[in-house]
Amino acid sequence: MNHDLSKLPGIFDRYPKHQQSLIAVLQDIQKEYQFLPCEALEETARVLDVPLSKVFSVSTFYNAFSLHPRGEKVLRVCVGTTCHIRGAAQIQEQLESQLNIKAGETTPDLKFTIETVGCVGACAKAPVVIVNERYYGPVKVSDYKKLLRGK
Ligand code: FES
Repeated sequence: MNHDLSKLPGIFDRYPKHQQSLIAVLQDIQKEYQFLPCEALEETARVLDVPLSKVFSVSTFYNAFSLHPRGEKVLRVCVGTTCHIRGAAQIQEQLESQLNIKAGETTPDLKFTIETVGCVGACAKAPVVIVNERYYGPVKVSDYKKLLRGK
């Protein structure tokens, strides 16, 4: 799939053109496109003069980066120990069945992505689901509509 790469020069202009800028550039690309398009990684390697293998290894190392398109709403279900004990699996199953996708997948209309994460440090509110940047908890299975509407 080809993506509009017209935003890339503006991103590259913000940083010195060397390897130390790699993570900052990738963060900005992720923010702009919601994921890291393959063509953008190739262009980043060329402009920063970094081997493409290095760009890919950094892209796959950090959880904040995604090589696949994500939905407008990313639902992150915490599956850490406390959330697990308090029913995270049932919440995950409910979201998966409502959206007809599994964790790690995005709906075909690119509206929703479900992910699982380890403890996000909000155990007092377990079970926790994060929708984009907003934390919800304690979440009940019946709260799924609120989560799907949430920002
Ligand atoms: S285990 Fe979910 S917030 Fe800690």
